[in-house]
Amino acid sequence: MSNPTLEALPSPIVEVPPHPIWPTLGAAQKSALKARIRDLLKARDAVLVAHYYTDGDIQALAEESGGYVADSLDMARFGAESDARTLVVCGVRFMGETAKILNPEKQILMPDLRATCSLDEGCPVEAFSAFCDAHPDHSVVVYANTSAEVKARADWVVTSSIALPIVEHLSARGEKILWAPDKHLGRYIQRMTGTDMLLWNGACVVHDEFKSFALERLRQLHPDAAVLVHPESPAAIVDQADLVGSTTQLIKAVVEMPNQAFIIATDAGIFWKMHQLAPHKTLLPAPTAGEGATCESCARCPWMAMNSLQNLEQVLNSGDQEIHIDPAVRERAVIPIQRMLDFARAHGIGGKRN
Ligand code: 13P
Ligand code: SF4
Repeated sequence: MSNPTLEALPSPIVEVPPHPIWPTLGAAQKSALKARIRDLLKARDAVLVAHYYTDGDIQALAEESGGYVADSLDMARFGAESDARTLVVCGVRFMGETAKILNPEKQILMPDLRATCSLDEGCPVEAFSAFCDAHPDHSVVVYANTSAEVKARADWVVTSSIALPIVEHLSARGEKILWAPDKHLGRYIQRMTGTDMLLWNGACVVHDEFKSFALERLRQLHPDAAVLVHPESPAAIVDQADLVGSTTQLIKAVVEMPNQAFIIATDAGIFWKMHQLAPHKTLLPAPTAGEGATCESCARCPWMAMNSLQNLEQVLNSGDQEIHIDPAVRERAVIPIQRMLDFARAHGIGGKRN
């Protein structure tokens, strides 16, 4: 098996914002706010499409109001299948952009357009294009956590739930892969498939913080717990996993595996859905550097945390946080995204419904 080549690219420094602090709401205030949001959704012919890392109140409201909570592949698919005039994407910017690329006729709103992602920020299109130009004999596969412009340079877009089968498919056709931006996911896929891959030097600031020695100790304390790991985590964490998968795949594992306890290496927002579907199971967060360390070492994505009930109400009133994509970029970016969705449909991947 060949080793993946990590391009010695200058990895851009990504500025990580502090976690927003939202005012705490009492039960009555919260239910009044949720009722107002439901009315605004109806008035706008809008649905909520939320990611599992957003606040539990947003996930609950999405489900109660006819919207959807999912991983990034199924968020894209739901948006494309929905009849609503407006999609309100609660997640990070690449998810809103993907929705707009697939649904140019729909209005796509987000609670806060500044909600980005360290992988997206760490892969600027100019440097990425130069990387592609330098390797014209490689098929370009990019993770969904990228800008519309980067997707417009790609042959394939993938998410964590479909990256492995798509790369296996390309590898079987003898293709060499240029992969961006997540080096950890890229390494994992390369190891699983043996494909010839060139990797961009990007990482998720949240998953990069899981600590392998501390995880070993936690496993010793809980020998019966299954270790579930998102593949954006470093190899030393992935190597300790009983199961590696996308957010949806990790949630399914908690429900379906016979274990009573689980150690979870991904953003802590996922616990809301896991608790909802498996209330009697014990869920332990995989260790990070924890308190006293950097802000991003809390297993909570600071950009996902920019979504709240408060700014959700604001955007439904104002309509001012709207995604727009240059039509020329959109025309090119839709091709690799649609290729992914067609592959998913043909191979029965994803497509869960709440
Ligand atoms: P999923 O596609 O597994 O939901 O992952 C998205 C993401 O950004 C994880 O950090
Ligand atoms: Fe990006 Fe990481 Fe946040 Fe996911 S958790 S949106 S990969 S920064």
